[in-house]
Amino acid sequence: MKKILVIGSLNMDMVIEMKRMPIVGETVLGTKMTYVPGGKGANQAYAAARLGGDVKMLGCIGEDDFGRTQKSNLAKCGVDTDDFKQTGTQGTGMASIYVDECGDNTVVVVPGANMECNVSYLKKNDEALQECDYVILQMEICCDAIYYAISRARELGKTIILNPAPVPDSLPDEIFSMLDYITPNESELMKLCGKEGESVEDYVEGARQLLEKGVKNVLVTLGKKGALFVNKETEELFPARKVSAVDTTAAGDCFNGAFAVALAEGRELSEAVMFANAASSIAVTRNGAQTSIPTREETDEVLAELLA
Ligand code: RIB
Repeated sequence: MKKILVIGSLNMDMVIEMKRMPIVGETVLGTKMTYVPGGKGANQAYAAARLGGDVKMLGCIGEDDFGRTQKSNLAKCGVDTDDFKQTGTQGTGMASIYVDECGDNTVVVVPGANMECNVSYLKKNDEALQECDYVILQMEICCDAIYYAISRARELGKTIILNPAPVPDSLPDEIFSMLDYITPNESELMKLCGKEGESVEDYVEGARQLLEKGVKNVLVTLGKKGALFVNKETEELFPARKVSAVDTTAAGDCFNGAFAVALAEGRELSEAVMFANAASSIAVTRNGAQTSIPTREETDEVLAELLA
């Protein structure tokens, strides 16, 4: 089993369930409020470890209970959290998540300690980059740290997966040519391309634009429509499994973690995408971020159905 290094954010999610989202200026009554460990980096590390990966994470938490809960939740799942940074100057990242009765969500993240996941911290932990095979990044930590990690990982010959979420206003062009995989959802893809569009054809065109910038492989998560894979040789739409979604929070994170595990196990690309589709199809049927991630057994069962 090859080693996966996740460099990214940790947030405590304050999840508020409601019938429908408020519009600007409106007050609505919620039905439930829970605290759930989240953060795109932590969710991806959690998913990869729960699905059987050999996972280490680099990230930063505050000196508070939310940070301690995050660290122990990940460690219990098998993630190596030994080199987490703990800062006294900022609190652990927080996310306020509204989920409506259709399972759709809106998220506001206050990064806090995540912004101290910076270049000097990564330089101190260069060994983690040297020892891994796959590096997974998202975009909820300091941007300079993301660009540094990508170029250092490229120098070391690692396989790099960037989940560009949330998409920053600009992404330096030279970053794209260092990426083995970029895994936006449909709206992130369109924002990266500076385009509008809602059809699979639009997404294929957008993906081709990223290939031209030098990314080797583009894997777009399309929710109910499945996942679209595009590289110079091929393009394929992998349909999603039909389920009733209750909460889509962290479905993309689950997809990314699962995809990395399948690649680390040496699976063929198409099987890796189907494994990721299987895992995220289960995650959307459950509430919360890390609380929604399925086990390996559950995922293998669904994968067998998809492959049948
Ligand atoms: O992708 C879902 C995650 O986005 C949540 O867990 C929240 O913390 C935000 O980072």
